[in-house]
Amino acid sequence: MVFPWSPGANEMKIGLTYDLRSEYLSLGYSEEDTAELDKTETIEGIEKALHSLGYQTERIGNARSLMMRLLNGKRWDLVFNICEGIFGDGRESLVPAILDDWQIPYVFSGAATMALTLNKALCKRVVRDAGIPTPDFCLVRSLHDLDKPKPAFPLFLKPVMEGSGKGIGEHSLIWTEEEFSRVCRHLLQRYDQPVLVETYLPGREFTVGICGNGPDARVIGVMEVVFNKAVMEIYSYENKQNYKEVVEYHKVEGEMAEKCGLLALQVWDATGSRDSGRVDMKLNDRGQPEFIEINPLAGLNFKDSDLPILARMNGMNFTQLIDAIMQAALKRIFGSETHTVMMRNEQYSYYPA
Ligand SMILES: Nc1ncnc2c1ncn2[C@@H]1O[C@H](COP(=O)(O)OP(=O)(O)O)[C@@H](O)[C@H]1O
Ligand SMILES: [Mg+2]
Repeated sequence: MVFPWSPGANEMKIGLTYDLRSEYLSLGYSEEDTAELDKTETIEGIEKALHSLGYQTERIGNARSLMMRLLNGKRWDLVFNICEGIFGDGRESLVPAILDDWQIPYVFSGAATMALTLNKALCKRVVRDAGIPTPDFCLVRSLHDLDKPKPAFPLFLKPVMEGSGKGIGEHSLIWTEEEFSRVCRHLLQRYDQPVLVETYLPGREFTVGICGNGPDARVIGVMEVVFNKAVMEIYSYENKQNYKEVVEYHKVEGEMAEKCGLLALQVWDATGSRDSGRVDMKLNDRGQPEFIEINPLAGLNFKDSDLPILARMNGMNFTQLIDAIMQAALKRIFGSETHTVMMRNEQYSYYPA
């Protein structure tokens, strides 16, 4: 495959940044600490897809490894970044911010979007401001907040900035003051961050895959997530990894797909998300979809991550998905200018290689 600007894909060197789960486990971090991080198999899958599209790749690894390589003079034409990070409320923004500083283009959202979407409450404010439906909510930051006004029961409680089902389980659905106070205490203590208290959405659940930027943003597919058991029983980070036993995925078409797709595109726009990601939503008691969260770093395991699964359901294999993501990024970054990627980097880079 050759891009409009020479020299073409086969001369592009793509760096891969990622946080390998096994690396952090061997350093003594827990299964839960590392729940969002990636398996070697995931990196290999992305690498294989990029190679078959004609790109050269180089494994960089995590943010620290990126920093060391940059200081040692290493450069890439583009970085394919799936670093989730592990510490702090800017953990997904770290690699994008470093790459911005070194003027190295990268795939997926920038630092501001990553920080916004990691914090589900901040993100809900932005989404709500854009007129997109999302459950009413409040935050419990400390025990002093327990008596403050909140939406009516039933409520759904979760840590405000986690992913992969962390902190979500049978305790999340709340019907009484007693449960509310007990679960808030538990979540505050266990996750050391505010508790997001939302109106419970009782209806069907959907996830929407998006690819592209600005006017090119499009829905890859809409998938219903059907839990074989009560969702609260199985929705924990451990179980999510055995999702096949408890979750069924169905392709959604027709009017519901249109509605969910439109909501997802509006969220995509409001959050300034880039290249590709996934938007989660659920139906309210009137059967209308409401926004739950957006994943600007959607899992990319070729076998069992939601985005590749929903792409596959819609006739797009894993390599085609990676191709679509790369095309979106390249168009966003380099437009249709005839500069070569190399020239552009030389021209604009402040840091000598
Ligand atoms: N307000 C809510 N009402 C009902 N179910 C919810 C609500 N918020 C989250 N859930 C359930 O919990 C799951 C995980 O929540 P989500 O915010 O997507 O967390 P994660 O980042 O871990 O994927 C959702 O897929 C959904 O099943
Ligand atoms: Mg989710």
